[in-house]
Amino acid sequence: MTDAIDVVVVGSLNHDIVAGVEVAPGPGETVLARTLTRTNGGKGGNQAAAAARAGARVLMISSVGVDAEGDMQVDNLTGYGVDVSGIARQADVRTSLALIWVRPDGENSIIVTPGAKDRVTPDLVRRQSSGVGGVKVVLAQSEVGAAVSDACAEVAQQMGARFVLSCGPVVLPSLTTLRDCDPVIVNASEARDLLGQVGADATVPEATLADALLVATGAASVVVTLGARGSLLAQADGPLVVLPAVKAEKVVDTTGAGDTYCGVVAARLALGDTLEDACQQAAVAGAAAVGWLGARPAA
Ligand code: RIB
Repeated sequence: MTDAIDVVVVGSLNHDIVAGVEVAPGPGETVLARTLTRTNGGKGGNQAAAAARAGARVLMISSVGVDAEGDMQVDNLTGYGVDVSGIARQADVRTSLALIWVRPDGENSIIVTPGAKDRVTPDLVRRQSSGVGGVKVVLAQSEVGAAVSDACAEVAQQMGARFVLSCGPVVLPSLTTLRDCDPVIVNASEARDLLGQVGADATVPEATLADALLVATGAASVVVTLGARGSLLAQADGPLVVLPAVKAEKVVDTTGAGDTYCGVVAARLALGDTLEDACQQAAVAGAAAVGWLGARPAA
């Protein structure tokens, strides 16, 4: 394991099966897809790839099967320059699949199925991060469960690293972990979900979501992404910052755009940017990320 790592990313690696549809199927309905693409995904892998593309030295901690889909992930992340030595291979369970519908306007729906990603456990996080040096940021996604988020926050603290939590879908970690987030990153609906889950008023006006979350969670900082309306950034030691949106040149597929945003925030923080500058860079990368099919561009 290398000691030259800026960002440790802990999370899922899924094999994305992407159907291009005119309309998403409703209950009891069958629709015909225009296209079918099999590609690398998973919020963890997408964020690791984005962080590496943004210039950070990245270690990925995850789990895939001993199968062609697992090989694809390892090869793809290696192609981005990600250190894949933290990816465990499982002989008895296959790489997780994500079933994705993408409409012509780029909007998607995603179902993630069980598989090797469910072997991303607190023990795996501790084992695969042990002995890794120089880490500035540990980035986790709540998608892989509260216990893993908690373990990542602990590991970050032991390493003296900053802890960043991409909290979508919202799976509530411990209150200690929430307080360690710097930042917790959510979109508007996740922000309301998180507010509700910590017992705060989830009906506050959109402009106050980041401040409300800062108070309700005790996090050191909060980023709320609002799509075309930009983003809100609240920090315990500073005023609320409203960042404008970056307009996408073309919209092909929104899958993974949020992951690109989170990966770039983590990378830029690790490379010394302020949170505001990191979010600005992330917004540019996120706008570009809707321009390609699938969650990651060609390596
Ligand atoms: O955020 C997009 C990702 O969510 C997809 O790549 C899919 O695998 C799911 O994890």
